[in-house]
Amino acid sequence: MSVPVFAARHVLAAVEPAAAVEAVREAFLEHARGAWTMPPKVYVDAPPDGDFRAMPAAGSNHAVLKWVTSFPGNPARGLPTVSGVVLLSDTRTGALRALVDAGAVTAVRTGAAAVLAAATLARAGAGAAGVVGCGVNGRATARTFLARGREVVLYDASAGRAREVAAELGEGAAVATDLGQALACDIVATITPGREPVLRAGSLRPGQHASLMGADGPGKTEIELDELLSARIVCDEWTQASHNGEIARAVEAGLLARSDVAELGRVLTGEEEGRRSDTERTAFDSTGLAVQDLAVALAVAGRYAADPAHPAFAGVGEVDLD
Ligand SMILES: NC(=O)c1ccc[n+]([C@@H]2O[C@H](COP(=O)([O-])OP(=O)(O)OC[C@H]3O[C@@H](n4cnc5c(N)ncnc54)[C@H](O)[C@@H]3O)[C@@H](O)[C@H]2O)c1
Repeated sequence: MSVPVFAARHVLAAVEPAAAVEAVREAFLEHARGAWTMPPKVYVDAPPDGDFRAMPAAGSNHAVLKWVTSFPGNPARGLPTVSGVVLLSDTRTGALRALVDAGAVTAVRTGAAAVLAAATLARAGAGAAGVVGCGVNGRATARTFLARGREVVLYDASAGRAREVAAELGEGAAVATDLGQALACDIVATITPGREPVLRAGSLRPGQHASLMGADGPGKTEIELDELLSARIVCDEWTQASHNGEIARAVEAGLLARSDVAELGRVLTGEEEGRRSDTERTAFDSTGLAVQDLAVALAVAGRYAADPAHPAFAGVGEVDLD
């Protein structure tokens, strides 16, 4: 049995950002409806440098397991923070169907979730998005906002990094003069390592939306607690976010219960309320769901099955596992 291996470049060329938003929307909807399933993510700590995550999901006759890292100090060593592999299998036979670069799948689906949440929760008529943190996943988020027709204002602790990403993304991408300029946008997306809060007390304006993408594990935070509590909070999935997301501290302290927080999928199905007024602040707490990975892996493998000669797949290798 031979299995295709999709490198990062294949994933990025095969799934355009705008298509990724629609694929990820379907993933949130299918999961909220109970059609796609997702056992809890397992963390394997590797102190002091980072951790590994095993993330399974099943749906649309397929199952995935993403084995992926978060090693925040890696860029200083010339290595990516996030890396690993996604295994895609057929649930009718159990056969392995593809191996997919996990870093690229993560970036595509994380950018898509940040943008989907903003599109769902931001005020009608909201303008540009300030993107804070322009690493691998911040860049993917900025790219996805642009693909959906929204201008971005980029800020990174490393000014050179923000300039580099703006130059690469081209028209519609501007570099913020300072953090305040990025945070003043109608929509803010934060994708930092979460070592210190980006959104301090009083930084969110009435009506503003923030997609908080960086705090996806214990001890990380991008927003001060009172600031978070000033917003209508929508998480990606309660069980995961209440243990490992921005809301974990507040849940542990008894300041937030399940009934205080909506899930994005249920907002999309109409079962739960998202934004309730034009002046409400909204915050999306993302920890990253395996169903999002399934959506992107399916999109890559499906496109390859339909058109293996497409230029996106130039150089795809196949491994023979027999
Ligand atoms: N929610 C999700 O689904 C999801 C998915 C992938 C990654 N993440 C998390 O997102 C974070 C970023 O991941 P990455 O792969 O993009 O990392 P990265 O190392 O590639 O990029 C991080 C960027 O943030 C910048 N930065 C650091 N502190 C900052 C600050 N205070 N203000 C502004 N910029 C700052 C760095 O200079 C760097 O450019 C990590 O915590 C990661 O675990 C979450």
